[in-house]
Amino acid sequence: MKAAIYPGSFDPVTYGHLDVIHRAAEIFDELTVSVLNNQLKTPLFSVEERVKILEEATKDIPNVKVDSFSGLLIDYAKKKGVHVAIRGLRAITDFEYELQIAQTNKLLSKGELDTVFLTTSLEYAYLSSSSVKEIASFHGDISMCVPEFVAHLIYEKYGHR
Ligand code: PNS
Repeated sequence: MKAAIYPGSFDPVTYGHLDVIHRAAEIFDELTVSVLNNQLKTPLFSVEERVKILEEATKDIPNVKVDSFSGLLIDYAKKKGVHVAIRGLRAITDFEYELQIAQTNKLLSKGELDTVFLTTSLEYAYLSSSSVKEIASFHGDISMCVPEFVAHLIYEKYGHR
């Protein structure tokens, strides 16, 4: 069985992430979307909230599971017995950072963890969770960036109804 992990912050999930999830789920038999519990960041949504949002957003894709992890991705992948990490590439600006992480993971895992990059569909190439949050904080329209229920939750966090 071909399994993969799609790790990320997902604070919160956007249509760009969902595009990658749908496409990775077509390629792999089982895809685990896993939220990083990063103590160094102050997220808008807690890990539990992000997991719940992802579960709701992917509930119609049967071979997708949602989980969370702390620490190194290579340790988490080893524990799960998975050898492939998925990452989305939006634009050339993502490439250097992603290549560095992919190469480091390959080295640290002694070749056990490979990274498969999926190019984000063009319509989502400039979409990021950070810009979605910034737009929402000023009460801007984020309906083309995230599913409706996610938009409601983001606006709620910023005190907009
Ligand atoms: O959505 P993001 O914030 O771009 O995701 C980054 C992520 C979670 C893929 C990356 O930060 C990660 O894997 N962190 C776990 C810690 C780790 O394994 N670091 C070593 C790679 S340099």
